[in-house]
Amino acid sequence: MYALTLIVAALGLATAAPSHDFEVRQAPTVASIDRYTASGCTGTICNKAGAGDLHVGCNVITDQCQQSLKLNYKNANCKVTIWRDNACKDTNQFANVTSFQCYELGPPIKGISVDC
Ligand SMILES: *[C@@H]1O[C@H](CO)[C@@H](O)[C@H](O)[C@H]1NC(C)=O
Repeated sequence: MYALTLIVAALGLATAAPSHDFEVRQAPTVASIDRYTASGCTGTICNKAGAGDLHVGCNVITDQCQQSLKLNYKNANCKVTIWRDNACKDTNQFANVTSFQCYELGPPIKGISVDC
């Protein structure tokens, strides 16, 4: 319950303040996804519970949870994109995460970028 309150408070602050002002003070997480070891959003989840785990820019996925993912939350103005590579390069773009459905590539998910 306490963690949930913190997330709600952080989201409110992020929308209220100019984004770079906020980033300088806290290097905030701007989105959170659940990543799974198996397809169809099944198997083990690797996230830290209740914590946002995505920062602005290219987030490289190095653990074993690369098979499928589902969005938890993202800040209102942020765009989350899934990549086939760990550099988030244009030609390796897989999908824009626009809903809370389960996303999976087939090949492993190597990067997730966030633009705000
Ligand atoms: C994601 O969205 C951008 C526009 O914001 C678009 O150019 C790009 O093709 C989309 N990517 C995919 C894989 O649909």
